[in-house]
Amino acid sequence: MLDLPAPDAELMTLRVARAEPAADGVQLFELRHPEDAPLPAFTPGSHLAVRVPSGAMRNYSLCNDPHERDRYVIAVKREENGRGGSVALIDGTPPGATLQVSAPRNLFELDTRAPEYIFVAGGIGITPILAMIRYLQAEGGKPFRLFYLTRNSASTAFREDIAAIGGSIVIHHDEGDPDQAYDLWPVFEEPGRAQIYCCGPRPLMDAVRDMTGHWPENAVHFEDFGSDLVRPRADDQPFTVCAGAEAAPLDVPVGTTILEVLRAHGRTLPSSCESGTCGTCRTRYLSGEVDHRDMVLTEAERQEALMICVSRARGTLVLDL
Ligand code: FES
Repeated sequence: MLDLPAPDAELMTLRVARAEPAADGVQLFELRHPEDAPLPAFTPGSHLAVRVPSGAMRNYSLCNDPHERDRYVIAVKREENGRGGSVALIDGTPPGATLQVSAPRNLFELDTRAPEYIFVAGGIGITPILAMIRYLQAEGGKPFRLFYLTRNSASTAFREDIAAIGGSIVIHHDEGDPDQAYDLWPVFEEPGRAQIYCCGPRPLMDAVRDMTGHWPENAVHFEDFGSDLVRPRADDQPFTVCAGAEAAPLDVPVGTTILEVLRAHGRTLPSSCESGTCGTCRTRYLSGEVDHRDMVLTEAERQEALMICVSRARGTLVLDL
């Protein structure tokens, strides 16, 4: 989950109508207007930015049917080794409490014109996909296949909801053993007409991206909140970035992004997800060896552009700014 600056004036105060476990380590929150007024509409794949009791902002996908206007439902995975936002939210938000939330935003838009869909959800990544499936069902139904991959039965949120929806659904548990991971290759071996939506941990998204390189461009969509895209890797190295051919080099230390460094030096640059999945921060570069870490650019696009919210470089990178 990302720390997003959100002025209080842009936030709504909502009542927590329900706060209860949805699975081991997953807490469901149902949010309503304090006077039961209708809430701003949302589209499938949308998320809310929530101010957690510690004051930080975190993004959570909406998982209820987007046709509903009387409530927002989110499910929060308790990240014991995270930065504390999820633990503060779960432990500090009983039913009847209030939460400040943004209006819904969508960085994982469902293409409602697609003839069919393939959904791949890893763990808590089921939340935006559940909203998509609920939306499609309410709209009369279109063919879809869901692959919901979790560690075990106890950690599988919304199991009953999904069973009630029916359709082509695979729920697979790997018991934490990579050797028991579900083999998605037969699903993607033959390119088809489906739009593919994948939300889950980085290794799962990497695997799906690797298996769908031969699918049409723009057929595969990813969303990542809270996985390790933006966390340092053990082999990360500092490098320098120049904001233009004539610009002075700026240091990008380990644990800091190009975007953060440029902003710290006064550049105003657009961003949204800050996890390499939305495409907003796409920036052309003139020279340098880029270590691409996004989920949106094709190999051809990577020859001239990068996502500066996540990608790094070796040596000196010169941006076309
Ligand atoms: S801000 Fe979304 S890809 Fe960088």
